[in-house]
Amino acid sequence: MKRIGLLTSGGDCQALNATMRGVVKGLFNNLDELEVYGFDDGYKGLIYGNYRMLSEKDFSGILTRGGTILGTSRQPFKLMRVPDEKGLDKVEAMKQTYYKLRLDCLVILGGNGTQKTANLLREEGLNVLHLPKTIDNDIWGTDMTFGFQSAVDIATDAIDCIHTTAASHSRVFIVEVMGHKVGWLTLHAGIAGGADIILIPEIPYDIKKIAEAVRNRNRAGKGFTILAVAEGAISKEDAALPKKEMKKKLEEYQKIYPSVAYKLEAELKNELDLDIRITIPGHMQRGGSPCPYDRVLSTRLGSAAAGLILKGEYGYMVGIVNGKVKKVPLEECAGKLKTVAPDDQLVKAAKRIGISFGD
Ligand code: F6P
Repeated sequence: MKRIGLLTSGGDCQALNATMRGVVKGLFNNLDELEVYGFDDGYKGLIYGNYRMLSEKDFSGILTRGGTILGTSRQPFKLMRVPDEKGLDKVEAMKQTYYKLRLDCLVILGGNGTQKTANLLREEGLNVLHLPKTIDNDIWGTDMTFGFQSAVDIATDAIDCIHTTAASHSRVFIVEVMGHKVGWLTLHAGIAGGADIILIPEIPYDIKKIAEAVRNRNRAGKGFTILAVAEGAISKEDAALPKKEMKKKLEEYQKIYPSVAYKLEAELKNELDLDIRITIPGHMQRGGSPCPYDRVLSTRLGSAAAGLILKGEYGYMVGIVNGKVKKVPLEECAGKLKTVAPDDQLVKAAKRIGISFGD
């Protein structure tokens, strides 16, 4: 007999349901008795005791369904130790819910912040497993997060669509891609979509270099240019500022521009006398069905988590390293960000074929 709790926390993505299905089917098929409790809206459900018992049936037919059947919310890690508006100790409340339900393990699906809280609960003595979710692919200790490839597909489709219209009108197009503070999504979608310029936070840009790359294309008779720009892209000048000043500067930009694409447009207008347009696929990148790659990845990770629960092994993130499923101790990975190295093979490959990074 096992009792497990499930929760999905942070921004959603396409393969949350597929991953939970992997966990639960992996347990139901190998145990005579299992109780599964699903917490509503992430850690909020665990804090306030909002949960429901789920049956095997609840996990049928959800492999292809995007979003999360449990709901999700953002509960910032840095506020976890701060009592809520009624003075409730959130960490204590989560522990109480866990003990009340006599859980053997809490399976937590989420990104970096979610993982930090999972590690905190582990330190508090709870049995936890973390499954790495995010379209940003920025979780340290796993080569791949579920959701990422589905988002790459959508962002690539967006760039593909822009190609035809950009070419017809001989325009410069800025396609802004999600990814939070890292450039994985933009790098992959940019290459897959044949973008001419890729801007990512890890490689700060020089606007003059970008303008030069556009001019070079025009000189070569290519009347249009597509820029795949990460939402966290930053200029060389800003990146060189001390941390505090940089933060202030970025806050100032937020008051002037709706997002980085608009700042870049304004900067490029000073350099080029060309028609510039902006496209932002936004949350579309997190929506819809998981792609086949993610369905397989989620099944592998979910099923591996079930395997650990069956053996009573807790305190890990279940990730993928060099193509193999790997359990990574939470104390090793929590709080670390996986960024794109400026000399990553993929960056080098892109540069070799003439893609500019504006550096
Ligand atoms: O972490 C996933 C992500 O989609 C980021 O790429 C993006 O910066 C952020 O979430 C958007 O968050 P929200 O859905 O809260 O606007």
